[in-house]
Amino acid sequence: MTRIRKAVFPVAGLGTRFLPATKSVTKEMLPLIDRPLIQYAVDEARAAGIDEFIFITSTGQSALEAYFGRNSGLERKLKDGGKTTLLNRLRRTNLEDETYSFIQQNSPRGLGHAVSLTRDLVGDEPFAVILPDDVIHAKRAVLAQMAQSFEGSHMIATEAVHSDRISAYGVVDIEHRAGRVQHLRGLVEKPSVDQAPSEFGIVGRYLLHPSIFDQLEGLAPGAGNEIQLTDAIAADIEGPGCHGFAFQGERFDCGSVAGYLEATTVFALERAELRDGFKTMLRQRMNLLSTAA
Ligand code: UTP
Repeated sequence: MTRIRKAVFPVAGLGTRFLPATKSVTKEMLPLIDRPLIQYAVDEARAAGIDEFIFITSTGQSALEAYFGRNSGLERKLKDGGKTTLLNRLRRTNLEDETYSFIQQNSPRGLGHAVSLTRDLVGDEPFAVILPDDVIHAKRAVLAQMAQSFEGSHMIATEAVHSDRISAYGVVDIEHRAGRVQHLRGLVEKPSVDQAPSEFGIVGRYLLHPSIFDQLEGLAPGAGNEIQLTDAIAADIEGPGCHGFAFQGERFDCGSVAGYLEATTVFALERAELRDGFKTMLRQRMNLLSTAA
């Protein structure tokens, strides 16, 4: 097992599926119940033992920067008002100054391009990449599940995808499997159904060998005319190699409105203080719908 210390969070995409909300706020700041998506991602990284956080932002993401900084005025007000529970909840969002950094991607040229910008900050060690809009509901943090099986090759999270959705994913070509670990022959970005080498699509969690930076350098744009991280990993199969990891858990694409709504429902039903009231409300709504039908 190789220790991973650093995580990269690319949050510089346009988030067009969430316009107009994302006109002024990045989608990673949208709340799932009462915490922004980025907080779930940071918590998942922490659960895997990661203690350095690198955010790739576009211009004008001051909300994200303010979120991780300390809000002394608000903390003082909560303290003076005796609101200790809220104060503690707020303080848990603060990151220590020396543990996080921001790097700017001036134009959204693709996930691969975004990751390539972190070379100096990551240095010559393996690191994690987390796409915060892929929220995963799991008994054990997915990155921690992956870190336990990580031995230095690139590792990407995978999940079985229905054939009518497969062409929206990067898809893995599996040579053989050992438990949840898939030894890969290759990766294909957004194949047609009949060209898909397996039913396993790539999900937004990666543990990467630093050789990825050499592959990203000078890489030509791929699908969607963007510099694709998947293409760089595929080109490195002959190098450190790549494993897929079929994680335990349920993933929600919170970059899409439908996925975000589903995640909100599932996470609300998980919360003890919300569950009963929320269930009653859902039942009433469903009854109204069936009466109207
Ligand atoms: P998406 O493929 O979801 O793209 O990016 P998007 O632009 O954010 O959203 P839509 O499709 O327009 O609605 C996957 C992840 O990669 C980041 C995004 O912020 C998201 O976390 N990303 C993507 C970058 O940081 N830079 C890029 O150039 C592209």
